[in-house]
Amino acid sequence: MNAVDIICKKRDGKELSEAEIEFFIKAYLSGEIPDYQASALLMAIYFRHMSEEETFNLTKVMLHSGDIVDLSDIHGIKVDKHSTGGVGDKVTLIVAPIAASCGIPIAKMSGRGLGFTGGTIDKLESIPGFKTTLEPADFHRQVNEIGIAVIGQSGHIAPADKKLYALRDVTATVENLSLIASSIMSKKLAAGSDAILLDVKCGKGAFMKSEEDAKALAELMCKIGSSQGKKTAAIISDMSEPLGHAIGNSLEVIEAIELLKGNIKGDLLKLCLNISAAMIYLGGGASGVEEGFALAENAISSGRALQKLAEMIEYQGGNKLVIDDYSLFPKAEIYSEIKAESSGYIESIDAEYIGLASQHSGAGRASKDDEIDHSAGIRLLAKRGDKLEPSDTIAIVYSSDEKKLKQACDEVLKAYTISDCEPKAEPLIRTMIGL
Ligand code: URA
Repeated sequence: MNAVDIICKKRDGKELSEAEIEFFIKAYLSGEIPDYQASALLMAIYFRHMSEEETFNLTKVMLHSGDIVDLSDIHGIKVDKHSTGGVGDKVTLIVAPIAASCGIPIAKMSGRGLGFTGGTIDKLESIPGFKTTLEPADFHRQVNEIGIAVIGQSGHIAPADKKLYALRDVTATVENLSLIASSIMSKKLAAGSDAILLDVKCGKGAFMKSEEDAKALAELMCKIGSSQGKKTAAIISDMSEPLGHAIGNSLEVIEAIELLKGNIKGDLLKLCLNISAAMIYLGGGASGVEEGFALAENAISSGRALQKLAEMIEYQGGNKLVIDDYSLFPKAEIYSEIKAESSGYIESIDAEYIGLASQHSGAGRASKDDEIDHSAGIRLLAKRGDKLEPSDTIAIVYSSDEKKLKQACDEVLKAYTISDCEPKAEPLIRTMIGL
């Protein structure tokens, strides 16, 4: 077997065998196959595509290229959740404590943000003292004792994906369904949970711009999960405008706390209840999504979910007093209110612009070693469909740097499209798969 024959075969549109995929990926990871040959294969895959069988095999090889987390000493059906990324996506901070308070063990590894999307670990690190690194034994003990722990991803999960993803990024080969699905699922499957709920976003602020593409990705990822014996389901939700009203690390934690206190209704609550319901169902805590939904509502109204978040914060070394005293979060030094420039209805808020504005305010990073400002970000005071008069405040931008603040404000203003007519309501939740 050699690399050139494999590249040739895919270039000509033929199906690669499991042995060929395994040979190529292993040799690439060990350095025997150079970047230029891997780039050629990626480009051939990009144009010629992969069959489902090839995609399953690619996932399997990448999944087994590093550590596979063993969570078997944690009692119960462990349910993981993955979002394909969005702007203002603080859903994990909300659904993890809801599901855990309903008896579903959550042993979750999350990532950091890059570019215009945020990461759960950065958000949690805005809580003073909160530790996102735990020894495996402490991680498992915490989940067995209180039912929940959220930590950062270990560096040894799916290293073949890490190397390939970096190459895809610089060879314009990211946007291929099989490559995306196998990349995400190899990491999720290696994280060791028994069931996986995928929150696949579509729209301007998402990786998948159209609902059809998001659905195709979700279906393929569910099939990959099932092929590895894991119950996998997906919810496809809209990410044309940012989720909720807060974008930026501490601002999003505060919004999550407010939701768990029962003070936030609307789209964010609806999405979180549906995702929690699906997780509770997948974890065997309900006979269907409807029952899971009622349990999730009760977890909020009874205060149990908020209590669970407080317990997790305390166990992981954080100051749980933040739950009632938001002044304990890092505070931005400067802020600026953005006023509407004309009257009319908000037709749209471009999530990508808002994500970039948040990044530029200091809340996100352009490259993975950048420092972030946990206090920076944006609060959107007006959202799609709201009626505005000139001089109404539409958003507040927080930062610790005048130049960054100015750039972010300009971008926030650009994100809003105002029209004379009230826009048609778009459904937040588009499709559910496997539920
Ligand atoms: N996220 C991933 O982890 N991999 C991809 O290929 C795309 C998004």
